[in-house]
Amino acid sequence: MKTSDIGLVGLAVMGENLALNMAGHGYTVSLYNRHGEVVTRFVEGRGKGKGFIPTYSIAEFVATIARPRKIILMIKAGAPVDEMIAKLMPFLSPGDIIIDGGNSDFRDTERRMRKLESHHILYVGTGISGGEEGALHGPSIMPGGSPEAWPEVKNILQDIAAKLDDGTPCCQWIGKGGAGHFVKMVHNGIEYGDMQLIAEAYMLLKERLHLDNEQLHAVFDEWNKGELKSYLIEITAAIVNFRDNGNGYLLDKILDAAGQKGTGKWSVMEALEENDPLTLITESVYARMLSSLLEEREKASCLFLNEDEFPGTGIDAGSIGEALYASKLVSYTQGFSLLRRASLRYDWHLDFGTIAQIWRKGCIIRSVFLGKITEAYTEEPGLANLLFNRFFRSKILDSLASWRSVVADGVLSGVALPCMSSALSYFDGLRTLKSPANLIQAQRDYFGAHLYERTDKPRTEFFHTDWTGEGGDTTSRNYNA
Ligand code: 6PG
Repeated sequence: MKTSDIGLVGLAVMGENLALNMAGHGYTVSLYNRHGEVVTRFVEGRGKGKGFIPTYSIAEFVATIARPRKIILMIKAGAPVDEMIAKLMPFLSPGDIIIDGGNSDFRDTERRMRKLESHHILYVGTGISGGEEGALHGPSIMPGGSPEAWPEVKNILQDIAAKLDDGTPCCQWIGKGGAGHFVKMVHNGIEYGDMQLIAEAYMLLKERLHLDNEQLHAVFDEWNKGELKSYLIEITAAIVNFRDNGNGYLLDKILDAAGQKGTGKWSVMEALEENDPLTLITESVYARMLSSLLEEREKASCLFLNEDEFPGTGIDAGSIGEALYASKLVSYTQGFSLLRRASLRYDWHLDFGTIAQIWRKGCIIRSVFLGKITEAYTEEPGLANLLFNRFFRSKILDSLASWRSVVADGVLSGVALPCMSSALSYFDGLRTLKSPANLIQAQRDYFGAHLYERTDKPRTEFFHTDWTGEGGDTTSRNYNA
């Protein structure tokens, strides 16, 4: 019987294209889909003549894969992954490897890995980014899970991944357990932030500079030739002047209510868990939520008309581009900070320079900017905050005046800039030596005897004051700084 190098379950958009990518690199792939007709349609259509092994039952599917078996699941995240694993298990042998290529919650990946390892099955949870085109021509791949699985899956995953100009694959081992899916989750959070920042720039260019769609195209196209060069800017340039069958511009007819599948929200939830100020990505998630409140927005737009147009702070496309770049820098600073905290908590030993390199090509957030992040971590692997890097520090300082006037222009003219302004607030908060948190501590101690530390005493020495002269001696026992 003919055997395959790998089995693939799930022939939706990503699965189908990934299968074609593997076949294109000389791998024989067994295919299974819960609806058999999908397999037939694929092997008789796009997959014709590419050596695929179509199968129509789990037993047949597993039997056709060479051992140790590698089985990649390209199915919906959540319960379907557990269900498929349960169906596969009775047919697997020790040393076989299941790879989950969906956008799974990293905690599910940790749990599945532990369970499967107890049955001597290895588990890989891998982020795969790049959409349909990436899956076909080379995605960015972020594998984590059972470390013993990596030597077995390395060649195939690196072969199908995107490559940097020097041939380096955009796929390296991320770490044990749920590390790969955590990194993909943060990738998606950053994707949300990038998209919202571009949307804010678009809004300013349209509403404040009154650019038409062709002029918008020219600005984004120009930006895509410089330091903002990225996939998302590139597609934005293509989107803004895309015609609706000769009937105006399509973008102008698309309903302004943003959807989301959840990975941005997960990043925010993890950041809260880690006490990490992931402010920009959080605002980008809220911005999508606010956009979806169509009825309320419609009512508010009537109740609170923007009557007098603010003359402006003198911004132009150049300053908007600088504000976008500086805000983006803050977003990545925060994203990598979350990775750093998670790495310490879960003992993942994440290599931040390599993660930035994996994101350089193939994925949705690919950009020239990521090359600078790799350089920053190569120069200083223990870098506590990306803004402390020499290059990024000077970039922020160079764009600061523009950034402030762009945000001020939005505030004074009534254009919502949740991400650009939260990035600036984070920056100002970070560089403030004496913050107003002394007042918060005083208030906490005043109303609840929550204790405070003093600037004239060593840290972790706690004090309470009887602010009213009527307080008792009891203080809060749990001091959480
Ligand atoms: C990728 C993308 C992808 C994600 C979509 C939609 O890396 O290829 O991140 O994984 O599912 O971008 O995400 P939302 O529906 O949440 O916007």
